[in-house]
Amino acid sequence: MTLTDAMRDFVTAQGLGFVATVRPDGTPNLSPKGTTEVWDDDHLVFLDLYSPGTVANLRENPAVEINVVCPVRRKGYRFRGEGTVHTGGETFDRVVRRFQDRRGTDPTRVRSVVLVRVTEAAELISPAYADGATEEEVSARWLHRLTDPPAPC
Ligand SMILES: Cc1cc2nc3c(=O)[nH]c(=O)nc-3n(C[C@H](O)[C@H](O)[C@H](O)COP(=O)(O)O)c2cc1C
Repeated sequence: MTLTDAMRDFVTAQGLGFVATVRPDGTPNLSPKGTTEVWDDDHLVFLDLYSPGTVANLRENPAVEINVVCPVRRKGYRFRGEGTVHTGGETFDRVVRRFQDRRGTDPTRVRSVVLVRVTEAAELISPAYADGATEEEVSARWLHRLTDPPAPC
């Protein structure tokens, strides 16, 4: 499938994805990747800086789901697809160069890069909207909560 402009803009703005893979025993493995970005029309990408579990799982089973959610607007997307691990070669070099150019990422920190071919995508909307609240109202509530949290986060 082709990522829409709205999806691309959202992922670019958030820069944090929660990546779910499948462990060999069939149970889930979920961990955050702050390097989650749009790679092209139908791929997301993230860097393996220290994600041994995710990478080992993908080598055995490419099934992956990534959730990208805005903690203020309480909206986001879920992306399902297939992940491919690259530890060298042209794709690895291109991804690492892009992160180096755009974020100043030290290439020696990159163990591998993971390209995710997105096959399904859907919007995520919080039940906070179920009572008819507007995006402005929900955002105001959570912005306050996140900037003045009841406990350190
Ligand atoms: C906010 C946040 C962002 C992170 N971003 C990344 C990342 O982009 N790449 C990475 O390899 N690890 C990242 N990590 C660290 C991994 O999530 C962490 O090492 C995790 O235990 C890896 O689990 P796994 O081996 O099951 O993938 C991040 C952690 C946090 C809290």
